Amino acid sequence: MSAADPSTWDAEAPTFDEAPDHGLLDADVRAAWRTLLLGVLPPAPAGVVDLGCGTATLSLLLAEHGYAVDALDFSPAMVQLASDKVAGAPASVGSRVAVRQGDAGDPGLAPASVDVVLCRHVLWALPDPSLAVRRWVRALRPGGLLVLVEGDWSTGAGLSAAHCASIVGESCARVEVRRLGDPRLWGREIFDERYLVVARP
Ligand SMILES: C[S@@+](CC[C@H](N)C(=O)[O-])C[C@H]1O[C@@H](n2cnc3c(N)ncnc32)[C@H](O)[C@@H]1O
Repeated sequence: MSAADPSTWDAEAPTFDEAPDHGLLDADVRAAWRTLLLGVLPPAPAGVVDLGCGTATLSLLLAEHGYAVDALDFSPAMVQLASDKVAGAPASVGSRVAVRQGDAGDPGLAPASVDVVLCRHVLWALPDPSLAVRRWVRALRPGGLLVLVEGDWSTGAGLSAAHCASIVGESCARVEVRRLGDPRLWGREIFDERYLVVARP
């Protein structure tokens, strides 16, 4: 089982939202992510692409605040759950999210077509993260933003902040890394490296 294989994520899908930071089912955890993301994103309505959207939790969180979201994942089971969740959201929110199946590493975005590329916990799993970031940055409109959430997890999976910043630095002139040690984001204390990267070309 490899993280680059959609079937790995199909197997994760049914229980994926049980982790506090995945489903954001706890109001305090949800509020912490809302504050974090709205604090770095340009004001709504801006166009966001959520690459490797999983069950579309972040897509819907942003749609609740007026963002238009293109949500993409390569796992058929994740896409199904994301589509179900979007269909079950109030029409005013769900109508702002379009879910599609595709490869985050090559999402087929037109140059200068999106305001924000958002990618949480996915870059580490891509076979060629440098190439993916180059493609994402090309898709940003002038003034656009790359927003990544990654980690170097105690499980042994992930990407260190230094490595991630160096990959992003190949395509972006301004790269800011912020540690995400606040337990409210995770529903518990954490002891590994988790971080936000906000970058502009
Ligand atoms: C750890 S989950 C994160 C889900 C979501 N971003 C979140 O934060 O809740 C990783 C997701 O990335 C997706 N993924 C991994 N590699 C991908 C790729 N090359 N293209 C599209 N989706 C991918 C998986 O199917 C899974 O849904």
